[in-house]
Amino acid sequence: MVKTVRVKVDPENPPREVIEEAARVIRSGGLVAFPTETVYGLGADALNPDAVMRVFRVKGRPPDNPLIVHVADPESIYLLASEVPRVADLLIERFWPGPLTLVLKRTEVVPPVTSAGLDTVAVRMPDHRVPLELIRSAGTPIAAPSANKSGSPSPTTADHVMMDLEGVVELVLDGGPTEIGVESTVLDVTVYPPEVLRPGGLSVEEIERVVGRVRVPGWARGLEKYTSRPRSPGMKYRHYAPKARLILVEGSPQAVYSKVQELVKELYGTGTKVGVLTTDGKRYENATTVDLGPSRDLRTVAKSLFCSIRALDESGVDVIIAESVEEKGIGLAIMNRLRKASGGEIVSV
Ligand code: TXA
Ligand code: MG
Repeated sequence: MVKTVRVKVDPENPPREVIEEAARVIRSGGLVAFPTETVYGLGADALNPDAVMRVFRVKGRPPDNPLIVHVADPESIYLLASEVPRVADLLIERFWPGPLTLVLKRTEVVPPVTSAGLDTVAVRMPDHRVPLELIRSAGTPIAAPSANKSGSPSPTTADHVMMDLEGVVELVLDGGPTEIGVESTVLDVTVYPPEVLRPGGLSVEEIERVVGRVRVPGWARGLEKYTSRPRSPGMKYRHYAPKARLILVEGSPQAVYSKVQELVKELYGTGTKVGVLTTDGKRYENATTVDLGPSRDLRTVAKSLFCSIRALDESGVDVIIAESVEEKGIGLAIMNRLRKASGGEIVSV
């Protein structure tokens, strides 16, 4: 056990002493959790294999699931990547800093543990002053998975981080709730057209406007089980999962509403405590209902998704029923997370 120090920081203007202390922890091989614009990350010196190993250990993360390396300026990509295709340059120019992670061929500088033995590396420049200043002050790129225990929903507040990692990390920088609420989009640019390995905060439509068509395989939408080449190892694990069983109901809004009503009634009748993740302020009798926001504003829905799943879990429900949202824009990421959280328990209507 280590003593976890939690420090509040102004995300717009993090105090220099706090950043410098956090940088010392990183340089000495320690772990620092920090906010980004997507979710909280659990950071370690990406070039220090022992520190990276500790990240895997404290998260309980399978060793074959590589980490994202965070940088504070676009040029750092040349330290980490041996080939930077033109599409990568275009995307970096347009979307960095921001919620876009690029998978590229890696250099020898990247320790094999960081990339889980793959010959590629995932790189991202976050749009948040805390990690940017931390990376600059530490003078090293920072490997950071989401700061949750492996398998549970990603943390969007420092409270979530403490719940999962208190006692195993040195420092938690509390910059308040994160802006986007789902993780970055992971895009493989070693292939052409580029392939989405995980939909996220940056929509496929926005990426396509810059580079033309990109591929979104079915498993990246969370539809079929991951079976093909070990390209995005993270996709094969059950993820974002609450303790409660989660049932996802997919279909047109009207059909979904009726089906959820029917399921709630049935489950309630057997003495099951039910929670529902809904949109547009709909109400369900005999269930704890959480409204994620307007279905026309999926950014708001994404922002409240993980904390609402955690909140329902805390409230002690046995089953969570989630309604589908439209699979466009950030809705693609929302549906991917819900499908994965359901572990395949999907009712199509
Ligand atoms: O928004 C985010 O991306 C957050 C914040 C903290 O930056 N980080 C995050 O990291 O979500 P993590 O470790 O929870 O998810 C990283 C994803 C996993 O699906 C992993 O398999 C994939 O990126 N990944 C990492 N390196 C890869 C590589 N070399 N090739 C393919 N996929 C990779
Ligand atoms: Mg994660």
